[in-house]
Amino acid sequence: MIALAGTDADTHTAATALAFGDGILGALGQNMAALGLAGRAFVITDERVGERYGDATMAALERAGYRPALRAIAGGETAKSLAGAAKLYSWLADERAERRDTIVALGGGVIGDLAGFVAATYLRGIALVQVPTNVLAQVDSAIGGKTAINLPHGKNLVGAFHPARLTLIDVAFLDSLPLRELRSGWAEVLKTAILFDPPLFELLETAQPHGLERRQLLDVITRCVQWKVKIVKEDPTEKGPRMLLNLGHTIGHAIEAACRYETYLHGEAVAIGLTGATEISRRRGLVDQALAGRIEASLRLDGLPVRFDRTKATPEQVLAAAASDKKAQGARLRWILIRGLGDPEIVTDVPPELVLDVLEWLSEPAA
Ligand code: GLY
Repeated sequence: MIALAGTDADTHTAATALAFGDGILGALGQNMAALGLAGRAFVITDERVGERYGDATMAALERAGYRPALRAIAGGETAKSLAGAAKLYSWLADERAERRDTIVALGGGVIGDLAGFVAATYLRGIALVQVPTNVLAQVDSAIGGKTAINLPHGKNLVGAFHPARLTLIDVAFLDSLPLRELRSGWAEVLKTAILFDPPLFELLETAQPHGLERRQLLDVITRCVQWKVKIVKEDPTEKGPRMLLNLGHTIGHAIEAACRYETYLHGEAVAIGLTGATEISRRRGLVDQALAGRIEASLRLDGLPVRFDRTKATPEQVLAAAASDKKAQGARLRWILIRGLGDPEIVTDVPPELVLDVLEWLSEPAA
């Protein structure tokens, strides 16, 4: 277990311990006990993950002396709602959950965000343990303390920063991941490499996630987590450098929304968004065609989409979705561009005409 303590003075970065490994779910309870988590453990998961890993999780907790309870909910983005949170509050209240108890989020991004939000708010906050079961959650959403639910007006509009006491990252979970989901999560891995780690990007240019040994997967995921932890420590509440993690997400989120979350998985939309952000960077003279080509080729190699289907959403609809998402958040449309590998910048002055041109280009059938 690696302890990565945050700045003591800031409650948003209360120490999160990280445990990485291959086949370490069985040590979940021991890791929790070692951190002094003494109450009951309430596992929140989705039906698919619960069926596969619920028993092993409960056994791991019981072996360490916990009296665990488990709730499996229907998965999917719609679970991340006020109604979804209310059902979990009722369950915890029925079970007489107390302040000293812990919520264990066992699943992908939806479960981590929802269970995390419930942990942040039930009894004004109880301990949270994240056990992310897909790549996307392991390298991104389970790291850094963001929790959230959606409103009809937009995604993640209600939430809290509530860092987990422990995040347990076990690559053995990835064995049962559908290939499409594995690839989708890999978009966040490539994003991290483009943002901060040119040698990692070079390594990934010739590697596909499903072709890697578990040991190599673990190395790549660990490296991405270390980058994320570094950024979150610098900027826990996203006032500065943490915004860089949104590379590819301005267009990605807008494509997801314009397609009503039906067409692309999150990472797939991010892959299209990475291609779009690189193209905006190229058209502003920040990067050359050679680098833009390498980034697109690496996404294609991993089976990720690099253009969006304009029969599902037009460029105008995507632009409108980007603008309305920001409006809902009361924020300005912000772009993360790149000047090279490992050299990102945050800008707010990208003209809508340029964005629309790039969205036109991005919606053409890929050559
Ligand atoms: N997913 C971006 C962040 O955690 O800041």
